[in-house]
Formats: sequence, structure tokens, C-alpha cells
Amino acid sequence: MEYLTVAMAKGRIANEAISLLESAGILFSDFNEKSRKLIFTDDDRNIKLIFVKAVDVPTYVELGAADIGVIGKDVLLEDPKDVYELMDLGIGKCKLSVAGFPSDQLLDRSQLTVASKYPNLAKMYFDQKGIRTEVIKLNGSVELAPLIDMADCIVDIVETGATLKENGLVVLEDVANVSARLIVNKASFAIKTERIQQFIADVKIGLEVYL
Ligand code: PRP
Repeated sequence: MEYLTVAMAKGRIANEAISLLESAGILFSDFNEKSRKLIFTDDDRNIKLIFVKAVDVPTYVELGAADIGVIGKDVLLEDPKDVYELMDLGIGKCKLSVAGFPSDQLLDRSQLTVASKYPNLAKMYFDQKGIRTEVIKLNGSVELAPLIDMADCIVDIVETGATLKENGLVVLEDVANVSARLIVNKASFAIKTERIQQFIADVKIGLEVYL
């Protein structure tokens, strides 16, 4: 039987998602957190797991290189792709927030420089508020931007809040709730309907055990 391929975002979602799949009886016996391997298989169920960079998960799924993807809602909102979003996995919960220095009355200003890994979401958010923005796209260590006067504030993921706290920043406003979603390639869903539905049913059972 052909493999059902699942693209998984490397990083913070992965360990939780693998544990969830284990609870669903989907086991990748040679997986361990420290491994640099990119492909793992469950040969009993013919499921192949591929590890890709988070922002690339929807691309793999849209193109059919993976049938299924596990990815944060933040990535889907920033760069929507032509895929089905079938399930909120309820793991990898965090918030997309505007953050900056505590004393700043930033949101009263008419113009802001904003640093973010999410330039589209940042621009949309401030557009809605009627605040003009220059958005600087960064790929990491976004919290640095206000500290070195490169930006007035940031739009970024806040999970524990530790990164903000350790850098003297605070949440100014929340933009969106984020959690991991299960996405599916449209053609795969038509062709491999039963297998994908079975996968989803297994994951739902796994969620009851896991959460
Ligand atoms: C993310 C995010 C924040 C941090 C938030 O970055 O961009 O910097 O995690 O997590 P916390 O609220 O638990 O501190 P990530 O760890 O992915 O690294 P990066 O800065 O290299 O993008």
C-alpha cells in the first residue's frame, strides 16, 4: 500500500504532535527528539512522516508532496494556501501579539515601524486600526528590534512570555489565538478519502488520550 505522507513542522510543535500521534497508535519507532533524520515511517500503517521547516509545510501539502500537514494557524494566516484545514489539534497553543516597551502609548500613534516574521498579518492588523506601518520582515530574534531602536514594536508569537520578559518587553495587544492545525491536500482527500478519514479518526481518539 502507498504511504500516506504527513509533513510535520520542525521545532516546537513536533514533539507534542509526535506524542499525540503515538497516543493515536501511530508509532515512528526510530524517532527521537535529537535525531537529524528527516523521514520516519510507521510501516504497520504505511504512514511516512517528513520533517520540514514550519513555513514550508503548507507548500508541501498544497503541491501534494505531502497528503497531510501539521502546522500552526499563524503560518496559515500569514500565507494562505489552497488546502483543506480539517482539524484544530489543540496543541501548540500560543498567541500572536503586538509587543513593545511597557510605557509606550504606541497604539495612539498614526505611524509605526513594526518588526515581524508575519509582515502580512502585522500590516493587516494595523491597517484595520488606521495606523500606517512600515513593516520590517525578520526571520527570528524579533524581540531584538525594539531593543536596538530598529522598530517601535513587534508582532510575534508569545507562548510562555519568557522571551518578552527577559528582554523587558510586554504584550500590548493580542492579535490572534494560535494552535496546530491538520491540513490536507485537496486531491489526496478526493483520492485517499478513506485513509485520510481513518487517520483523522485515529487522531481524534489520540487527542482524548493525550489532552
Ligand atoms: C518564538 C517567537 C518568540 C518566542 C516566544 O521564537 O518568535 O521569539 O518563540 O516564546 P516564549 O513566549 O515561550 O518565550 P523561536 O523560539 O521559534 O525562535 P526564533 O526567535 O529564532 O524565531
